[in-house]
Amino acid sequence: MDLPQTMRAVEITEPGGPEVLRPCERPVPVPGAGQILIKVAYAGVNRPDALQRAGSYAPPPTASDLPGLEVSGTVVATGPDVARWSVGDAVCALTPGGGYAEYVVCPAAHALPIPDGLPMDQAAALCENHYTVWSNVVTRGGLVGGERFLVHGGSSGIGTVAIQLAHARGARVFATAGSAEKCAACTELGAERAINYREEDFVPILKAEGGADVILDMVGGDYILRNLKSLAEDGRLVQIAFLQGPKMAVNFAPLMMRRLTITGSTLRPQSDLAKARIAEDLEREVWPLLSSGRIKVVMDSTYDLEKASEAHARMESSAHIGKIVLAV
Ligand SMILES: NC(=O)c1ccc[n+]([C@@H]2O[C@H](COP(=O)([O-])OP(=O)(O)OC[C@H]3O[C@@H](n4cnc5c(N)ncnc54)[C@H](OP(=O)(O)O)[C@@H]3O)[C@@H](O)[C@H]2O)c1
Repeated sequence: MDLPQTMRAVEITEPGGPEVLRPCERPVPVPGAGQILIKVAYAGVNRPDALQRAGSYAPPPTASDLPGLEVSGTVVATGPDVARWSVGDAVCALTPGGGYAEYVVCPAAHALPIPDGLPMDQAAALCENHYTVWSNVVTRGGLVGGERFLVHGGSSGIGTVAIQLAHARGARVFATAGSAEKCAACTELGAERAINYREEDFVPILKAEGGADVILDMVGGDYILRNLKSLAEDGRLVQIAFLQGPKMAVNFAPLMMRRLTITGSTLRPQSDLAKARIAEDLEREVWPLLSSGRIKVVMDSTYDLEKASEAHARMESSAHIGKIVLAV
């Protein structure tokens, strides 16, 4: 296949607000061993992109400096040692960076088939959130059917996936969100109780239910103590971000007395092998749920690639419900 030398992309010109995202021209990347080159149809927009843009989440040394952690598109070239994918295959993929562009390379093992019937814009919104939720809620948090699960930021990209996955696996789901409209979205997705945190305190609500077995938290700050209070015996708190800061004075005695676990992870710095293992789990356990429509992609809005700064401004306004994607 004849490929161009250069491509359209969006780069971070300097650390700062959404306005530092600018269209640019870059060389088309070349896939190395075990990698594929994807012609991008849509790119997903995620909070970590905004952190990278602001200068507080540096890409790993081997990754593209361009933002963009997930895409949908078509394989247009393969590097040596790629058996699974061929030119012309439609895929969605977790990318190490570089998704805000016409072409991106990623390890072949981090691409997945498009679930049956899913349009390309929705397929671009899958990988970052499903990889993160699966590895933190199921693998790390050990959530099983019948347990009580609390997710904060229930209407976020992450939250909409976490609610549906936990519900589909038979857990009782509780979610917090910042408005009545967002709470309604959470209950529609399977939360039995959505808590508007501006009006209600989640701690007594969870305690009255016997406590949460697993909490997925992205807020931190004073939520750290309140989460620990909300956990059931043997409960697990899984931290994936600290929107209100990572520091808090904590009395650790309850960890011992109630056998609590505090854990957490970030996806991006993990090894290629670790991500490939998550992809295998997702294809086996979650992709059938997406193909059958049991788990849906909650879409907020689509912007043209060149309007990435507007997409970031919307995400940081927190007015959105679900996912924002860029049409490339
Ligand atoms: N560890 C990892 O590997 C990993 C991977 C992906 C994402 N993440 C993190 O997961 C979080 C969600 O990501 P996303 O892409 O789904 O983002 P998103 O859609 O923008 O969601 C962020 C949510 O957080 C809530 N929020 C924002 N500021 C807040 C604050 N100061 N206090 C309390 N809640 C606040 C907002 O909901 P309300 O309006 O209801 O407050 C919003 O829905 C982000 O923090 C992101 O960095 C972590």
